Amino acid sequence: MEQVKHILLDVDTGVDDALALIYAFKSNKLYIEGVTTVFGNVDVKQATDNTLRVLALAQPRYEIPVAMGADAPLFRPRRENVTAIHGANGLAGYELPETSQLPVDERASDFIVRKVREQAHDITLVFTGRLTNLAVALAKDPSIAQKAKLVLMGGAIKVPGNTTPVSEANIHGDPEAAHRVFESGIPITMVGLDVTGKAKFGEAHFHELMNGFTDEQAELKAFMQHIFTFSFEASERLNEGKNRLMHDPLAVAVVEDASLVEMEDYYVYIETKGQLSSGATLVDFRRPPSRTNASVCMHVREEAFLQHYIRTVLS
Ligand code: RIB
Ligand code: CA
Repeated sequence: MEQVKHILLDVDTGVDDALALIYAFKSNKLYIEGVTTVFGNVDVKQATDNTLRVLALAQPRYEIPVAMGADAPLFRPRRENVTAIHGANGLAGYELPETSQLPVDERASDFIVRKVREQAHDITLVFTGRLTNLAVALAKDPSIAQKAKLVLMGGAIKVPGNTTPVSEANIHGDPEAAHRVFESGIPITMVGLDVTGKAKFGEAHFHELMNGFTDEQAELKAFMQHIFTFSFEASERLNEGKNRLMHDPLAVAVVEDASLVEMEDYYVYIETKGQLSSGATLVDFRRPPSRTNASVCMHVREEAFLQHYIRTVLS
């Protein structure tokens, strides 16, 4: 029997983080040890509140602690919330009911250190926002780099960035944190725009999902209907067609099933000094590389992933 994988999710909830959380909560191949939160799409208080509300909506089969983390990059001021893509509250303006669950009384970085120590060699950290909490955790205990694996949504190798011409939002949002993580020795799987830019959830997927919900899933259906509709309008406004890029859900899916992607090993350098290129993920294409620090997802079986996403959410 396939073993259940233990993961810790770090999110800046956000529309696609919410879609990733719902998927991870529904997956029977994953056990979520906890969720930590970070600034990014919204400020960290909002990200934490959104995470707790999405958690209550998805009704996971077990209790999942939520720990609040960094509200700013390590050394830079925090940028504005990304309202054009995620709405004023990060959830496309949708008001999910308040929940009684509170965040735990432990900083995200301490929570990460403790969980990695407790679950040594059997935990995958899944980061779908800035890498700030992990950089802080690594500063507190560098040995966690030898005890955990990291799957992160971020970066762009052979495709343009989405925040600057060459930088992806999660790396650009805290380049110094990303640099520390990529230099830490932790085994990294990078799920960047090379693959997430192809994972387009379109109208046909939307109808398939909507038609699959049962009456008992009405609240989840209403939420997903709203956020996909909002996302379609936002991407049309940006002349990017009628779809939602499934950045963060794809990172979770790669943990579940690495056969959805093809990876290449590289040494990924993070640009931290550039005027226009801060947060770029740079690699040396000469093969074979003399050393590597990440397996980078370069190709994805997008339709297989999207179908798997729909099946999991409806389960
Ligand atoms: O570049 C896309 C990433 O930035 C996603 O994780 C999105 O949620 C934002 O954090
Ligand atoms: Ca995110």
